[in-house]
Amino acid sequence: ERTRVAVIGAGPAGLLLSHLLARHGIESVVLDSRSREQIETTVRAGVLEQGTVEVLDRTGASDRVLTAGQKHEGIEIRFGDEGHRIDFTGTVGRAVWLYPQHEVLKDLVAARLAAGQDLRFQVTARRVEDAGTDRPRVLAEDAEGDPVEIEADVVVGADGSRGVTREAVTGAHGGYFREYPFAWFGVLCEAPPSAEELIYSNSPNGFALISRRSAGVQRMYFQCDPATDTGAYTEERLWEILQSRVPGTTLREGRIFQRDVLRFRSFVAHEMRRGRVVLVGDAAHTVPPTGAKGMNLAVADVVLLTEALRALLLDRDETLFDAFPATARRRIWKAQHFSWWMTNLLHLQPGASDFDRLRQIGELRTVVESDHGRAHLAEAYTGWPLPAVR
Ligand code: DHB
Repeated sequence: ERTRVAVIGAGPAGLLLSHLLARHGIESVVLDSRSREQIETTVRAGVLEQGTVEVLDRTGASDRVLTAGQKHEGIEIRFGDEGHRIDFTGTVGRAVWLYPQHEVLKDLVAARLAAGQDLRFQVTARRVEDAGTDRPRVLAEDAEGDPVEIEADVVVGADGSRGVTREAVTGAHGGYFREYPFAWFGVLCEAPPSAEELIYSNSPNGFALISRRSAGVQRMYFQCDPATDTGAYTEERLWEILQSRVPGTTLREGRIFQRDVLRFRSFVAHEMRRGRVVLVGDAAHTVPPTGAKGMNLAVADVVLLTEALRALLLDRDETLFDAFPATARRRIWKAQHFSWWMTNLLHLQPGASDFDRLRQIGELRTVVESDHGRAHLAEAYTGWPLPAVR
């Protein structure tokens, strides 16, 4: 089989890429090892930068993001017993939207299928070959174990941090990597919202994030040891821990129906491209979740790559495609820095001395007690400008 662009991975990056390419008349095949149901129900992040929302809305990728998503014009940073509002609209004139990633995926899958996209679930990519030629190939296997081979002008790895494409591109080179000595324990609960806006709390017992999903379902996280088991706590204990980390706010409690533990990693692949094989999203980089940059960064990669592929495949102009890794890396390292900074600003470091903790409070005050500090946080959180989509 032959196509113009073979996309491995039907997450936000892969699906959005096929959508944007189709607007230029560029045909693609999208493969994913998971079923449609798995893709549409796995709970992930929930914050979309304004630029991400504009791309989804203006290109018809999701018409629900603006109606079903919630616009947030600020967040609260809490330490001591006090909350400090970071006013996004007032400082930088931008906002974010709370709209769960799996809802974005439902919209994208529906839009792609309605447009006749060749989108194959439960087809697992095993290898990418001939990266150095202009006929790279994906060797895959369908649900029955039968081989699938797709030859393309370009292969795009949008298959996440555990996908096969990363290795095809970076070989043994790997990437820049950092681990953190903590994780997030995440819960979904049936309760009304505890606050109008997200609360990022630095407490003496560690970090907590009070996020939201809908009128009746809320998302909350607290800092934990990475070895923590999801079954480690009773529901009562989970509420005690969460409550103790947002002194000054009374959480509205309810049945906890889902729990997960999220590891913290920072990663940037040394290479994002090898010949005609290119990486986007988590396949190319991973950020820790504080600051909600993961999916937004994937969207930014895809917007850039679409322009590069348009020039390459329609105008036979390789300039943007050659420059893609360097161009993408400018934003990637800004997002890496912001995610690392928010993480270190808000979490309790195991073994922190009194000096370390008091210095951290000094840093928090430097941010929240300054118009410039608040604007700095707001600018990064709401997202740096994206190139216009055509
Ligand atoms: C959520 C996740 C994040 O990483 C974050 O910074 C804010 C909100 C969420 O899942 O709601």
